[in-house]
Amino acid sequence: MQKIHVNTSNPYDITIGSSILEDCGDIIKKVTKASKIALVTGDTVDLLYSEKVINSLKKSGFNVIKFVFPNGEASKCFKTLNNLYDFLATNEITRSDCLVALGGGVVGDLTGYASATFLRGIDFVQIPTTLLAQVDSSIGGKTAIDIPAGKNLVGAFKQPLAVICDISTLSTLKPENFSDGMGEVVKYAMIRSYELFKILSEKNVKDNLEDVICRCIDIKRQIVENDEFDKGERMLLNFGHTFGHAIEKIQNFTGLSHGSAVSVGMCIITELAIKHELCNEDTYVKLKDCLKKYNLPISVDIPYEELVKHCVNDKKRDADNINLVISTEIGKSELRKIPIKSLLD
Ligand code: GLY
Repeated sequence: MQKIHVNTSNPYDITIGSSILEDCGDIIKKVTKASKIALVTGDTVDLLYSEKVINSLKKSGFNVIKFVFPNGEASKCFKTLNNLYDFLATNEITRSDCLVALGGGVVGDLTGYASATFLRGIDFVQIPTTLLAQVDSSIGGKTAIDIPAGKNLVGAFKQPLAVICDISTLSTLKPENFSDGMGEVVKYAMIRSYELFKILSEKNVKDNLEDVICRCIDIKRQIVENDEFDKGERMLLNFGHTFGHAIEKIQNFTGLSHGSAVSVGMCIITELAIKHELCNEDTYVKLKDCLKKYNLPISVDIPYEELVKHCVNDKKRDADNINLVISTEIGKSELRKIPIKSLLD
């Protein structure tokens, strides 16, 4: 079992290990005086892990109530949020109680946003059960729901009291969901760690899962500590995301998964970087080989011009320029302001 301390405005520990769901009650008891816990989860994870988590929480003396909603991105909306608020109010959750998010990114983002807003803010704990949530969305305090105009457009920064990553939960992930998380894992290697990239390229990730997850979490920790509110360095975490988000939007969020879209996005931006002489061909070849190794796509059947049209609607632009994250070589990245018209040269 390993611990990574995150020194943000509200500091907290991330605990990473195998079969630690059984210990979640003890871990949570150390960080809260709450007597009641509202466990929030999706229907798939509920069947797999709720019982274990509830038993552990009860053993540690918590009174537990449970809110379950349908699995999937479509649930990350005001309707589910309102149902959750009603549930918390009906069950007389007070400001000294605590929410626990058990599941992937949708559960973590929605529960986090409820915890940021219900009663003007109550505590919450993240127990991520997907690779993507363990290495990325559960860490750093970004919480949100989707609205018809776009993904994550209503949200708040709210750091959890603790994050508990039980890597045993990844054994029940479908292969495509594991690959989805690998998209973000490769991103961390490209932006910050040549060493991690070597592990991903030369070893079997599944034999080195705890180490790989800890490396990703530690990269995110450093970046979030330097820029908790996403004004500068944290934008590096968006490597591959500008084109990735465009792909997801064009496909109405029913095509490539987030990690797969980011995978293609990393390839497109690296090709652009080569064109602008910011990166060399060898880096691109190694990136593509690594993505293919984890069954991630390296291209998509959407005309480049259409992708660019969607990118320029991105939050990261001003009148004539767009801020893009470029990986200049494996393990190194920088933010570059690029004239929008040069994207189509
Ligand atoms: N997922 C990107 C971030 O937390 O900033």
